Amino acid sequence: MSADTALPPVIAIDGPSASGKGTIAAAVARQLGFHYLDSGVLYRIVGLAGTERGANLDDDAQMSRIALNLNIKFDDGRVWLDHRDVSDLVRDEGAGAAASRVGALPGVRIALMALQRGFRRAPGLVADGRDMASVVFQDAQLKIYLTATAEERAQRRYKQLIDKGHSANITALLQDICARDLRDSTRVAAPLQKCADAVEIDTTGTPADAVVAQVLRLYQKHQKQQKTQ
Ligand code: DC
Repeated sequence: MSADTALPPVIAIDGPSASGKGTIAAAVARQLGFHYLDSGVLYRIVGLAGTERGANLDDDAQMSRIALNLNIKFDDGRVWLDHRDVSDLVRDEGAGAAASRVGALPGVRIALMALQRGFRRAPGLVADGRDMASVVFQDAQLKIYLTATAEERAQRRYKQLIDKGHSANITALLQDICARDLRDSTRVAAPLQKCADAVEIDTTGTPADAVVAQVLRLYQKHQKQQKTQ
C-alpha cells in the first residue's frame, strides 16, 4: 500500500449496503481519535435534495449542480441541509435508493470529491463508502473491504429499522439490497469493487466488536511496518 506521509493517514472501509461499514468505521475512528467520513450520507443528501426539488435523479447535469451547491453542515453526529436537520430523513430507504441512483452519475461523483477529501485532517480519517480505496483515497494506509451475505445484511437493516420504530418488510429489504448491490457494482463510474490491495473481511455471523478489533490490529501492524522501514 502506498502512503503519502505528508498527509494525515486514512483507513478506507468499502463494501456493499448494510455490510456494517458505518458501525465499524465509526467505532474504529472513535478508538483511534480519528475523524470519520460516512460518504454515503453525501450521496443520500444529494438524492434527498433532488427528490425534494423535483429534479430528475438520472440527469447528471441537474444533479451535479445540486451536488456542487449543497448547503450542508455536520455537527455532533447530526447533518443539516439548508439549516434543517435531515439526519433521520437521509437514513430512509427512499433516500438510500435515491443515493444509489445519483451515485451512478459521473458528474455527481466529481462534484462530491473535494468535499470528501476535505475530511482528511490530523490526526487521521476513517472513511466508509464504495470507492474510498479505489478513487477518493487511493493512497489510504489501510484498505478494508467488508462483506456479508445479502440475507444477513437484510436482517441487519430490518433490525435497525424496527429498533428505530419504523415498519419494515424483510422480503422487500432483501430485494432492495440485491438491486442496490447490482446497481452499485455494475455502474461505469467508480463501481463498488474490492481493490487488489484491500483486506477482505466477511462479517457474516461476526459481532461488530470483533471486526473492529481486527481492523485495529491490521492498522497497528501497518504502523509497525512503517516504523521498521
Ligand atoms: O453507504 P450507504 O448505504 O449510505 O450508501 C447509499 C448509496 O450511495 C449507495 O447505494 C451508493 C451510493 N454511494 C456511492 O455511490 N459511493 C459512496 N462512496 C457511498 C455511497
